[in-house]
Amino acid sequence: MAKKIAYVCSACRSPQMKWSGRCGVCGEWNTIIEATGDEASRLASGRRPGSPLELVGLSSVDEPPERRNLGIPELDRVLGGGVVSASAVLIGGDPGIGKSTLLLQAAANFAAGGGSAVYISGEEATTQVQMRAERLGLASSPVMLASETGMRDIVATLEATRPDIAIVDSIQTMWLDGNESAPGSVSQLRAAVHQFVQFAKRSGTAVFLIGHVTKEGQIAGPRAVEHMVDTVLYFEGERSHQYRMLRAVKNRFGPADELGVFEMTGQGLQGVDNPSAMFLSERGRPAPGSAVFAGIEGTRPVLVEIQALVAQTAFPSPRRNVVGWDGNRLAMVLAVLEARCGVGLGGHDLYLNIAGGIRITEPAADLAVAAAILSASAQRPLEPNTVAFGEISLTGALRPVPKPEQRLKEAKKLGFTRALAPKGTKRVILEGIEATLLGELHEFVRLLGSSDDD
Ligand code: TYD
Ligand code: MG
Repeated sequence: MAKKIAYVCSACRSPQMKWSGRCGVCGEWNTIIEATGDEASRLASGRRPGSPLELVGLSSVDEPPERRNLGIPELDRVLGGGVVSASAVLIGGDPGIGKSTLLLQAAANFAAGGGSAVYISGEEATTQVQMRAERLGLASSPVMLASETGMRDIVATLEATRPDIAIVDSIQTMWLDGNESAPGSVSQLRAAVHQFVQFAKRSGTAVFLIGHVTKEGQIAGPRAVEHMVDTVLYFEGERSHQYRMLRAVKNRFGPADELGVFEMTGQGLQGVDNPSAMFLSERGRPAPGSAVFAGIEGTRPVLVEIQALVAQTAFPSPRRNVVGWDGNRLAMVLAVLEARCGVGLGGHDLYLNIAGGIRITEPAADLAVAAAILSASAQRPLEPNTVAFGEISLTGALRPVPKPEQRLKEAKKLGFTRALAPKGTKRVILEGIEATLLGELHEFVRLLGSSDDD
């Protein structure tokens, strides 16, 4: 039998069924060549009918993946304890939120610590990046820098240098010259990310891909490529605040949901060791409509202030304005307040804000949100030094939430002495805290109503 010739694309190394003028995978012209050596036998063997795989057990004898600390503790923690070699990390966020600054700092710290780091900017000229490094006091760090958007040269450069980490700013500016769709299209974005992921796997380089989140959908967003990378982080925060949150939403090598907190300064981003103290630092004396939620973000407890304002409405349908929390969840809490506790806010506008620009996703915040709303509505402050947590069910019952001990420990550490918590929270972990354990939300409504009778 004549030996079958195996073909491969010399640009993206994808196997081809037959020779053609153009690679169907990366779109390059005149790159299909005959495979030789190992690759040919590998491709040839790929055409055989399937052969049984060697199956293994669940317990691994391999070493855990190699990790490298970037020298930015908040970033390293969100990654699960440093970045894993040969992995691809996507960092998404709104334009101007600070992605380039964060990763330039990471590259510079990493390189200053002896690692090799390449930073490819498709958005700024090298002089602009150098000026930024100068401003941040990082100019002496041996980061290797280039300004380029063409994938062919970028991949060739990375192949030639094979650094420990590479940063690509941003994936939306990258384009493949064989691909006919416009730069920024989903097809270009996927093809570019695919090449970076492949490069990471074969070189051992940890590749960081910056992606802008876009509202209008003019250019494709990071969501279109989330499934292709190992780790997805989002950098977020309110433009008007100096705090920035780095959140892991997917991590093949660590816990998802981990949160890193940074403060923006003239010298760049500074990690915040104690976010609770920071989020509560601007809290004034106890005021109606303010409640402190003892939350958990990833592995860390984080205390935040929830603020509510209730005002007579001038509109036919009252306004519900939420910053930092889920609007649907708020609608649910309001419905429970109305149906189970007889507190209707139909004639009132409601504004709800999580102070500090953080976004809360835990259902455990329900009780603190309800407490802030009830306190605002009754124009009566909650008892001072009180934290709250608990999930509200549609029946009006309060449900226990995970990790009450960690929440209360953090509260005690910050000087809180009282807690509103769901019934069933164990006595032992309440030591040193004056706790009000609630089975039903209406018990709290009654409690608040009776507090002015003294
Ligand atoms: P930048 O990192 O360029 O945002 P992105 O890459 O997400 O679009 O940051 C936007 C601007 O904010 C830039 O002009 C630098 C400034 N900035 C600071 O001055 N200090 C900081 O700590 C950060 C993060 C940004
Ligand atoms: Mg940028």
